[in-house]
Amino acid sequence: MQREHWASRLGFMLAAMGSAVGLGNIWRFSYVAGENGGGAFLVLYMVSVLIIGIPLLLVEVSIGRKAQRDIVGSYKKLVPDKPWFMVGYLGVLATLLILSFYSVVAGWSLYYLWGYITGDMAQMPLDGYGATFDTFISRDYAPVFWHGLFMIFTMVIVLVGVKNGIELANKILMPVLALLMIGLAVYSVTLPGSGEGLAFLFQPDWSVLKDPAVYFSAMGQAFFSLSLGIGTMMTYGSYLSKSQKLPGAVVGIGVMDTLFAVISGIVIFPAVFAFGIDPSSGPTLVFITLPEIFYQMSFGNVIAVIFFMALSFAAISSSISLLEVPVAYLMRAAKMSRKAASLLVSIGVFISGVTVSLGMGRWSGVTPIGNRNILDSMDYIASNVLMPICGLSMALLVGWYFNRKEALHASDLNNNQIGGTWYLLIKFIAPILILIIFLNEIVNV
Ligand code: PFF
Repeated sequence: MQREHWASRLGFMLAAMGSAVGLGNIWRFSYVAGENGGGAFLVLYMVSVLIIGIPLLLVEVSIGRKAQRDIVGSYKKLVPDKPWFMVGYLGVLATLLILSFYSVVAGWSLYYLWGYITGDMAQMPLDGYGATFDTFISRDYAPVFWHGLFMIFTMVIVLVGVKNGIELANKILMPVLALLMIGLAVYSVTLPGSGEGLAFLFQPDWSVLKDPAVYFSAMGQAFFSLSLGIGTMMTYGSYLSKSQKLPGAVVGIGVMDTLFAVISGIVIFPAVFAFGIDPSSGPTLVFITLPEIFYQMSFGNVIAVIFFMALSFAAISSSISLLEVPVAYLMRAAKMSRKAASLLVSIGVFISGVTVSLGMGRWSGVTPIGNRNILDSMDYIASNVLMPICGLSMALLVGWYFNRKEALHASDLNNNQIGGTWYLLIKFIAPILILIIFLNEIVNV
């Protein structure tokens, strides 16, 4: 059977941007930046994107395009005689773990969207938004229903295929998402008192850099936000034909993803400060703090519908890229049809997501890693352990297993001035930085 391909390079770029821009930019970025001091974190995050993120993104997409396979198949094809493909399995595992909790959080977003559309959320609940959110996520069935619904949307898009499913969905979702977010940002900066929020984001307080945890969070956020290392970008790259040039596309994806994080910071922090709320209120920032703010704002309901629509759209354009990794693997390795593979993986992820959801309530005493609940444990293993390991392995493959000429050729950088710098970054600098930051964290767990 002929392997599927994108209709155009722009289609690939939109899909890759769709994968990168997601809950990570809005939900995760805002609370991680809030907890780590705002401006200085933003600078570190951007530095990580520039010297680790974008160079590795180019590595990942070029491996995929060169091998024209899923992640396990790509490693097997490029390095047939060594066990590199094991890294591919780690990548598949990471996508399954991430999708399991991603879909649960995206389900909360759908629930809020629905609540604001019907008007139920618009009234301040008797015991406040915080208690309402806690009660909702700890229920047995309701969050599982929204998680299931979100998985069905994701599955249907992936099941249709690369061109008519994933590419088409991103062509619609991404422009709408950009419009919604820009509209929200313009509104947010016009709020009285927004200056303080902008200062939090853009006037760095360098003293936070004394804490090593900030570096780790910045690198972890860069990996998560760029969908790096675990095969989504490799699989998307494998649907590119060899004639399509990579470096420009990859820089565009990295820049766009960072821009979306900054824009969501501009949406969220002015509102947080304008209403006198602590920016470091953690993962609940988007689900408790923002509804409180929407409640106090004029036109808060309309803004809330737009916000949760944007959040849900951003989530779905990323979840389809996560699902595509195991689906592409099964289609090749188990010779399954796209339909059967999508269905099988979605059912598996649904079940594993049910444990995540129950972990917020009935099973909140289950703490597999440290004192983290099921969701945080899965996030920790996938984002902080598997992503850097897989990213490091990719850099080592192209930096050390390939020779310089092969590496530059695979990424279209032979005859390019930045080729030398890129090679230095992926061969030495990125691996060393990943190792230092990673080991430092593991020692401190
Ligand atoms: N980059 C996505 C986000 O920022 O929400 C999340 C993600 C997608 C992570 C795909 C990893 C991945 F492979």
